[in-house]
Amino acid sequence: MCGIVGYIGNKNSKEILLEGLKELEYRGYDSAGIAVLQNGKFDNFKAVGKLINLEEKTKNFITDKFSVGIGHTRWATHGKPTELNAHPHVGESSYVVHNGIIENYATLKKELQEIGVNFLSQTDTEVIVHQFEKNLRELQNAFQAFEKTVSELQGAYAILLVTKDEPERIFFAKHGSPMLVGINEENEKYFASSDTPLIGHCKEVNYFEDGEYGYVTPQEIKIYGKDTKKRKTHFTKLSTNKLSSQKDGYRFFMEKEIYEQSTVIADTLLGRLGVDEVVFDELDTSLFNGINEIKLCACGTSYHAALCASYMFERYTKIKTSVEVASEFRYRSPIMTKDTLFVVISQSGETADTLETLKMAKEADLKTLVICNVDNSSMVRLADASILTRAGVEKGVASTKAFATQVSVFWMLSLYIAGLRSSMSKEDIAYQISLLREVPASVKVTDTTHERIKRLSKRYLHGHGFFFIGRDIFYPLALEGALKLKEISYLHAEGYPSGEMKHGPIALADPELFTIALLPQHLLYEKAKSNVEELSARDSTICAISALEFDKADDFIAINECRDYMLEFFEMMVVVQLLSLEISIRLGNDVDMPRNLAKSVTVE
Ligand code: G6P
Repeated sequence: MCGIVGYIGNKNSKEILLEGLKELEYRGYDSAGIAVLQNGKFDNFKAVGKLINLEEKTKNFITDKFSVGIGHTRWATHGKPTELNAHPHVGESSYVVHNGIIENYATLKKELQEIGVNFLSQTDTEVIVHQFEKNLRELQNAFQAFEKTVSELQGAYAILLVTKDEPERIFFAKHGSPMLVGINEENEKYFASSDTPLIGHCKEVNYFEDGEYGYVTPQEIKIYGKDTKKRKTHFTKLSTNKLSSQKDGYRFFMEKEIYEQSTVIADTLLGRLGVDEVVFDELDTSLFNGINEIKLCACGTSYHAALCASYMFERYTKIKTSVEVASEFRYRSPIMTKDTLFVVISQSGETADTLETLKMAKEADLKTLVICNVDNSSMVRLADASILTRAGVEKGVASTKAFATQVSVFWMLSLYIAGLRSSMSKEDIAYQISLLREVPASVKVTDTTHERIKRLSKRYLHGHGFFFIGRDIFYPLALEGALKLKEISYLHAEGYPSGEMKHGPIALADPELFTIALLPQHLLYEKAKSNVEELSARDSTICAISALEFDKADDFIAINECRDYMLEFFEMMVVVQLLSLEISIRLGNDVDMPRNLAKSVTVE
């Protein structure tokens, strides 16, 4: 989730690039950089941390004539957020910026190193510029060299490349990561990862399609498709509203983030799935040597992801697993044995209680692992090992896409450990991996589902409370559904294991008690159904979420028929998120900044 900008023209390119990056800073702020080619000479600046540091560094840099420039703001995936790892990356006479992940970078890097190419960074991106220069030496033509380079890359990318060989061109390629180009009457060309940086500069923009590549000069835009055939440009009018543009037209960031889940989960899975094995380049297998127990610790939504993990870990790895709320764990003199792998989960990597439990585990000499969305956060720096969830910046206080990627990582991690321990057969792992590959499609929001939920939401604005109920891994999903609802609607909601209803909570059942029942077809369906029937018999208002019609329900939200309960899990996750969103919008609440809450809780 990085941000990219590019510019060709006669105006002050430094300002244009920096202003553009400012608009994209929400996409990542580990480091930023620009490279500008004017008068046949490159100037390049990079700075770690927020954009303000780059602004400071470029204070005395003047761009007052025709120039070609590219810029980048980084959300680290490969390599720490250092200045060396910041983009643009340099070859001998070219610079590149890139958003996405080059899956085959290790192979390309090895081949380049074998012919004597020296690498400065740990990034996957740097291979692009060296591969381009190698091709340029062979082909003696910058466009052909770029075309060849693009055909050699696997993975997801939006790329801008500038080279001294063609001082009036920006080369671009797009596959799986967003990018567009904007034009105006002054023959300027602007590139960016989203349209916000272009507002005010351009009236028309061309959004690139996957597989497209080419180049722009002040006079022309040349686009080619995957088949190397020329493509026509498709210009559309650019919106003039910056805020709605940042939200890509969605009403709230939370809504945008729910819709983004398909893309970010695809990023989370990228490069990590083999046919019958899961690959985590960032992990050393010795982390799991001598481990007889896994302890998971977190707060809030991350705690719910940890609860989901406990079901998968015990089922797949056969390792005893327990989950703890971090604020409780801190003060209850817990017993910590060295054969325990201590895992913390945090979107931000800064939550005070979770961080403290990590420190406790370190002091007790336990092996530690963090599942986190922010590289270089306190937890990532402290833990022995880390896995990044790659959800990108999450702006809505109510976490959605972070949760989705956390559960995806845990699913992969449980299979990874199962592979190491041979606790599952290769065939079973391969089956699970085939399911994982379907998750991005299963979380895609369809108009029909969203419209249905929007319409139903008006029936759920009152009452004395909500029960979200589910069994097995759908129990933590019920907890998460209830948490979402209370966070943004301020209505009272609780998550329960369906089987617990009769042990107390059912006493509350009446028509004003709304039960949101998670009824997966492929997991304990009959048992969960009879629990809902008990509630229905006591006149609770039931909203069933299932692939199978349920006649005892007052309302029914259909999910697609899936071939496995884990896919039903992800489908239902989207439904409960949208339901909370729509209820909150109808109640007139500030969805993105609900009362009394903070995105990152760095105090106890
Ligand atoms: C806050 C946020 C929650 C989040 C929790 C844990 O309460 O409002 O959305 O789940 O902190 O945050 P973390 O960054 O550690 O996942």
